[in-house]
Amino acid sequence: MIMNLAIVGLQWGDEGKGKIVDYLARNFDVNARYQGGSNAGHTVRYKGEKVIFHQVPCGVLNGNIQGVIGGGCVLDPKILLEEIQNLTTYDPAIKDRIRISKFCHLIMPYHILIDEIREGSKQAIGTTKKGIGVAYEDKYGRTGLRVGDLYNVESFEKKLSINISRKNLILMDVYHAEPLSDNEIFDLYMGYAEELRSMVADDTKIVGEAIDAGKNVLFEGAQGAMLDIDYGTYPYVTSSHTVASSVGIGLGIPPYSVESVLGVAKAYTTRVGQGPFPTEDSGELGKLLRESGAEFGSTTGRPRRCGPFDVALVKYAARINGVKEMVLTKLDVLAGIDKIRIAVGYESNDEMDPFATEQLVPKYIEVPGFAEDISGVRSSGDLPDNALNYINVIEEHTGIKVSHVSVGPERDAIVKM
Ligand code: IMP
Repeated sequence: MIMNLAIVGLQWGDEGKGKIVDYLARNFDVNARYQGGSNAGHTVRYKGEKVIFHQVPCGVLNGNIQGVIGGGCVLDPKILLEEIQNLTTYDPAIKDRIRISKFCHLIMPYHILIDEIREGSKQAIGTTKKGIGVAYEDKYGRTGLRVGDLYNVESFEKKLSINISRKNLILMDVYHAEPLSDNEIFDLYMGYAEELRSMVADDTKIVGEAIDAGKNVLFEGAQGAMLDIDYGTYPYVTSSHTVASSVGIGLGIPPYSVESVLGVAKAYTTRVGQGPFPTEDSGELGKLLRESGAEFGSTTGRPRRCGPFDVALVKYAARINGVKEMVLTKLDVLAGIDKIRIAVGYESNDEMDPFATEQLVPKYIEVPGFAEDISGVRSSGDLPDNALNYINVIEEHTGIKVSHVSVGPERDAIVKM
């Protein structure tokens, strides 16, 4: 029996959740995103081609699965329409299988502009500059515009005009930037409204009714636990809840809808953007992981910071998500490293404390590496002994079972343990 399953990242995002969602999606009827927006970059290999998803749930290229963008997400219509256009080349009927919640807050041009301006100032935290934080600020400040608002033209125009006059004051007086024109933005968004119309729906009904009908739902998280707005390395976080508890609120369904949570962790650690990173290696190892693992952001192209696996960090992320099993991704990238370091705790304390991340000094152990290229391995018995040992050491120290390891970008490059 398949259960309603949430896939979550156990590090700072970019764990390879996209590939795992795509791999599992064939067994599900619905694939739903519940938080975040176009800051996400989920990479999937489809028929040998690299397809990057930003807002569309990335399992939609599997059979007849329905993709849902939940009300907890923030939506950039321009990026979404480009993404859908691209997906149409793989499946001409893709639009029929994508539904967008009317409750989603819209990312507006002023959100992106303000995000970009702040990132050029002392306020910078290394965002993706997609307007995510500013859109969520408006949502919680109760001034945001939602997808459903697009279809009440008069009220949309009024709300937009109020928003733009406020934002123009900030743009001109605080940031000394050019003001925006409400007519242009209004026309642009009315154009988007028509293009999106057939996909706009009530996610609470679609997903809720699917669950009631006994269908299988795959909940797709974006970013990772350490980027959670409350439980991550604040303020160097994203502006949504990235942990599994966010599923219910992000789709308007009860909390018990999530029957199981599968974590995804990379076999080493990466982070993009600013903020503390206890196991960061700014020397040879970091460089090697970045090059062998192609560690460059799929949304921004920024080089990712890299370092050894951090047990305490993954244990913390698993605890707050309720993860008992995880997929270890990119194990193939470690091939050729003579001795692999793993941080099994910190000098001061063996627990991750997101308040003290700046001060945490990792305690490392070293395990023997493996020289073999494992990207063609499909059965656990064919993994080199030292690769199996690496997995065992991680399982022992984290207390989390590794259910699968991913050994390459292709959909089938996965080994069940
Ligand atoms: P924002 O979400 O664009 O506001 O960026 C806030 C922080 O989250 C920055 O450190 C970003 O690099 C990071 N971030 C946002 N989305 C992703 C992602 O999909 N993968 C990895 N990091 C992300």
